[in-house]
Amino acid sequence: MRKIIAAGNWKMNGSRTMTATLINTIKGGLAKDCNCEVLICPSFGYLSLACGLLAGSPIKLGAQNISTEASGAHTGEISGDMLVDLGCTHVLVGHSERRALYGETSEIVAVKFEEAQLVGLTPVLCLGETLEQREAGETEKVVEQQLQTVIGRVGIDAFERSVLAYEPVWAIGTGQTATPDQAQKVHAFLRRTIAAQNGSIADSLRILYGGSVNGSNAAELFAMLDVDGGLVGGASLKGDQFLDICAAA
Ligand code: PGA
Repeated sequence: MRKIIAAGNWKMNGSRTMTATLINTIKGGLAKDCNCEVLICPSFGYLSLACGLLAGSPIKLGAQNISTEASGAHTGEISGDMLVDLGCTHVLVGHSERRALYGETSEIVAVKFEEAQLVGLTPVLCLGETLEQREAGETEKVVEQQLQTVIGRVGIDAFERSVLAYEPVWAIGTGQTATPDQAQKVHAFLRRTIAAQNGSIADSLRILYGGSVNGSNAAELFAMLDVDGGLVGGASLKGDQFLDICAAA
C-alpha cells in the first residue's frame, strides 16, 4: 500500500509573514488521523524559518531546486548539503518551469537527481509533456525520454529513494486539470516503464499528479490506481484549499 503524498510547491511566492501564517494554518488544521505524507516546498529564503515552524510536526520540508555542484564558485546557487543544513528532506528536480524558463535539460535534471541523493535528500522528479506534444501523440515518448535519461545516469535502484511527479505542462497554473483517466493512463505507463526494469521498485514508487489540483478535484484524482498524491502549486498557497487536498488523500 503506497502512502499518499500531498506536496505544496509554493514557487516564488511568499513572505516571512505568509510563511508563518500558512504553516500554522496547515499544522493546526491537519487532521490527527491524516494518514498522508505532507510536504511543503517554500522558496529558498524561507526554508530556515519554515524549518523552525515545522519542528515537532510530521510535515516535511522540501526545496524547489538544487545545484548540480557540491560547493564552490557558483554564485547564486544552493547545494544539496545546504538544503540538508536548512532542514530539507526533499527537493523538486526537473519542474517544467525550470526546464522551460531556465534551460534545464534532462541531462542536467539527472545530475540534480544524483546530487540530491548523494546528500540524502529525496528527489521529486517532475515529468510532463506540453500541449503541442500531447496533441502530436507524443506524451509517452516525452515522459519516457525524461525518465530514461535519469535512469541512465543513476540506475534503476536509485528510484527506491525517490518520488515521481507527472505534471502535464498544459495543466500547470491553467485551471485545466487532466481528467482522472488522462492522469491514470500516463501514471500507469510510467509505472510499467519502471516495472520493466525493477518490479518491486515500481510497486512501491509514489507517482504524484500535478497541474491545477485543488480541494474539489483532488479526491477523484487520488482515487485512481496509480495516482499516489499531488504536487500542488496555486492551491497550496491557500491554507483551507491545501487542507482539503490533504483530507482528500
Ligand atoms: P498548479 O502548479 O497546481 O498551480 O497548476 C503545479 C506545479 O507547478 O507544481
